[in-house]
Amino acid sequence: MPLKLNMKYLNGFIKDSDIFALENEITAAHNALHSQSGKGSEFTGWLDLPIDYDKIEFERIKVAARQIQKKCDVFISIGIGGSYLGAKAAIDFLKSSDYNSLKKDTPDIYFIGNGISADKFNNLISICEGKDVCINVISKSGTTTEPAIAFRIFKKIMEDKYGKEEASKRIYVTTDKETGTLKEIATREGYETFVVPDDIGGRYSVLTPVGLLAIAVSGVNIDELMSGAAKARETFFDPNLNDNDCYKYAAIRNLLYRCGKKVELLVSYDPDFSMMSEWFKQLFGESEGKENKGIFPASAIFSTDLHSLGQYIQDGERFLFETVVNIMKPNNDLIIDFDDYNLDGLNFVANKPISYVNQKAFEGTILAHCDGGVPNVVLEIPQKNAFELGYLIYFFEKACAISGYVLGVNPFDQPGVESYKKNMFALLDKPGFEDRKKALIEKFNV
Ligand code: PA5
Repeated sequence: MPLKLNMKYLNGFIKDSDIFALENEITAAHNALHSQSGKGSEFTGWLDLPIDYDKIEFERIKVAARQIQKKCDVFISIGIGGSYLGAKAAIDFLKSSDYNSLKKDTPDIYFIGNGISADKFNNLISICEGKDVCINVISKSGTTTEPAIAFRIFKKIMEDKYGKEEASKRIYVTTDKETGTLKEIATREGYETFVVPDDIGGRYSVLTPVGLLAIAVSGVNIDELMSGAAKARETFFDPNLNDNDCYKYAAIRNLLYRCGKKVELLVSYDPDFSMMSEWFKQLFGESEGKENKGIFPASAIFSTDLHSLGQYIQDGERFLFETVVNIMKPNNDLIIDFDDYNLDGLNFVANKPISYVNQKAFEGTILAHCDGGVPNVVLEIPQKNAFELGYLIYFFEKACAISGYVLGVNPFDQPGVESYKKNMFALLDKPGFEDRKKALIEKFNV
């Protein structure tokens, strides 16, 4: 059984009848999404992607991944936002957030171009010394500043190290199928390229070549990932709110938001989920946060963050609800030993698996938080594997689109992201931004 929505911990906060009062709004959102009549409908290619993708290119990704595995020790993925988060999240979740340090027969994988820290660049340059390297640069627009800077730096390093010809066999480009700077560079240099579909925005693109190449390089079975997403597509196609857990989750989020719960804390008891939370934050934050509306997506890893944020969650301002992703079974468990002296007083958990203690931490915490006035939604995931992850990714993508339509916004654009870029360009004296610079000087005296 894949993901299950557990609404037990909403008791006392919202009733089933409250959820079903949103039925017409959910049906309208479903119809808008599936008839492509809603806002941003030109970016709904992700809806059928799990069954309707370029199978030839998919095979090419698997071939490229095998070549990369053979010819390098370090694989560098260059990208930001939707061109970064999905792959990192999937690898951490399925392979481990300690992937690079673990014993394995696949390359170490590093992500760069997701920021502009000089120290981060220098660290990676030094990690690459003496190692064989391959690169995948990913940018749908092909012009995003952060990955463009990273690519300029690492392209030169590759060419100095291998010469132009060998470097060109080690650089893979994922971008628009025909336009953009990156496409132009790839054509000129003869790099192998993969396509970011026109009808899929960055934050919905993890199951396209954007995410798939790095995920495949890490050794994850990407066929299973797509199968999980395909299963979710089939399951959550049902327009009937009563039979659709994805739509129920979207309804619950909107309902809680209308009751003043403005922050959704995505919680997991597995640190390997933390990058999935970052992916979730981009998905929901960029999709819903506009027109002065939207739930603020936040995240925590328990029990770690119970020792930092726990106090606020329990007793602070009551504008929070939690969505807990509860992974029912670890891939590898560990039994706690019995100790004859019991000086640490821990024999009450002796001979118990660690996962049992983690589960009790989950139960104890959720009861405490509900008592403290924090509604909780639980998503139960049977275990961590590629199929379940594909299923979960699609669940969140569709819940996000439906939630956004119920909220009344376009869940597929991100106009607000441009503001910082324009200011940065003006302050860097990029040609074309002179007026912006003048305005900044007048307003802020910079
Ligand atoms: O959701 C989005 O579209 C953005 O956050 C992008 O993912 C991000 O800006 C990267 O864009 P690009 O792939 O064009 O470099």
